[in-house]
Amino acid sequence: SGVWAVVPAAGVGRRFGGDRPKQYLEVQGKPLLVHALDALLRHPRVAGAVVALAESDGLWPGWTERQGKPVVRCVGGGERADSVLAALRALSGKASDQTLVLVHDAARPNLALDDLDRLIRTADAHPDGAILAAPVRDTLKRSDADARILGTEPREALWRALTPQAFRRGALTHALEAARQAGIVPTDEAMAMERMGLRPCLVEGRDDNIKVTTPSDRALVEFLLADPAL
Ligand code: CTP
Ligand code: MG
Repeated sequence: SGVWAVVPAAGVGRRFGGDRPKQYLEVQGKPLLVHALDALLRHPRVAGAVVALAESDGLWPGWTERQGKPVVRCVGGGERADSVLAALRALSGKASDQTLVLVHDAARPNLALDDLDRLIRTADAHPDGAILAAPVRDTLKRSDADARILGTEPREALWRALTPQAFRRGALTHALEAARQAGIVPTDEAMAMERMGLRPCLVEGRDDNIKVTTPSDRALVEFLLADPAL
């Protein structure tokens, strides 16, 4: 059955800087946001996408359709979680509580189809959902306030959370609303689900599914998208 993509794209890109929010950085002739959208819509299970945009966004091309699938826009909020919640609400009418939603950062343009496919299959089989994640590869140090090493942390059980993150629409909406009520700002969707006592699965994804965050990511993303992840 149909899965919907939810793309938060209402950020200002403060750390990246530049003359426009980073989701509109053009690489290989396409804004990062459109790379992200296209990577999601190309999966046959994805029925359509909701994009959360800043109220003042003047750069969105205004599509209502892409790759023959509906693209819905909505106005995002002050935090990423607020933008995701706004997009989930914009989906009422189009998707049920049980519909799987894939939340994916507009600033992650290099999503591989194979990663997306394994994520969807895992989330299909797990009621608590699933996220793409990458094992930590560096040695991890804990520091004191003066940046002196206190010790080395075991990294075997540690992962970096990536996107997409796949959950049932009703459960995710409920978890994000509960976090907001509690005054907590989750930095990813799984964090809101974890607070509810749920146990989403980790699906190992590619390291090159990077989130464009600082200016040094620009050269890297240009390199990656010259030969995009299949
Ligand atoms: N995002 C959003 N609504 C917000 C904040 C962020 O939809 N209020 C989106 C961004 O557009 C981005 C994704 O969430 O696609 C990941 O956030 P991040 O990388 O932090 O982007 P920005 O918040 O734009 O960047 P910065 O934190 O450097 O300002
Ligand atoms: Mg941010």
